[in-house]
Amino acid sequence: MSDTEPQTAGGKVLWHFAMSLDGFVAGPNHEMDWMTGASVRPGLHSEYIETTGAVLGGRDGWDHDPDARPYGGAWKGPIFVLTHHPEDATPADDVTFLNCDLAEAVRIGLEAADGKNLEVLSPTIGRQLLELGLIDEIDLHILPVLLGEGIRLYDNPGSAPIRLHRVGEGDPTSAVNVRYRPTTPAGKPFTR
Ligand SMILES: NC(=O)c1ccc[n+]([C@@H]2O[C@H](COP(=O)([O-])OP(=O)(O)OC[C@H]3O[C@@H](n4cnc5c(N)ncnc54)[C@H](OP(=O)(O)O)[C@@H]3O)[C@@H](O)[C@H]2O)c1
Repeated sequence: MSDTEPQTAGGKVLWHFAMSLDGFVAGPNHEMDWMTGASVRPGLHSEYIETTGAVLGGRDGWDHDPDARPYGGAWKGPIFVLTHHPEDATPADDVTFLNCDLAEAVRIGLEAADGKNLEVLSPTIGRQLLELGLIDEIDLHILPVLLGEGIRLYDNPGSAPIRLHRVGEGDPTSAVNVRYRPTTPAGKPFTR
């Protein structure tokens, strides 16, 4: 099966998520347990751990679990959290709260990333950056699960379609074909 090339460090702004097949990056109430059980290609996590220089997130994700860190804590580096009211945020040594415009937040994040990539781990901030033309790549790992509700990667009612080009060899406008079978709750194939 065709796959993306390994990610590279290059001062890029990545909107990077694991996502359900129906487009959610978190379940209701920020649930993330749906991510367990999916396999990823060998070395994928290290690829991103090595090429990420800084992370930009939003206040809701932070407030939900201030102890959570990207890649389960395996990645270490500067984390920036955007909020309109930094004064009442739970402080942490590795986190800087920003209350500035998005272009400035990206400038600060890229400077801290020091030539590596800035990962945007927030749907709301990613959407705003996309509108400003400040996203270099949308980098998704689509997991074989349907959630039905939660936090969408891209929630922008009334917006015009945003056309994308697929990164890699071949026609950048080509569709990606996938085919799945439902399984039982225990992960076994249905039999008829
Ligand atoms: N699937 C994955 O791979 C993955 C990875 C990482 C995270 N996640 C999940 O992604 C979810 C992120 O949650 P979310 O998108 O609902 O919220 P969020 O982006 O974490 O937070 C939204 C909040 O960020 C602040 N904010 C956004 N834009 C701002 C701006 N321009 N200026 C100042 N502040 C701004 C605002 O906070 P104030 O109201 O305080 O101003 C806003 O209410 C979490 O559930 C997290 O677990 C998933």
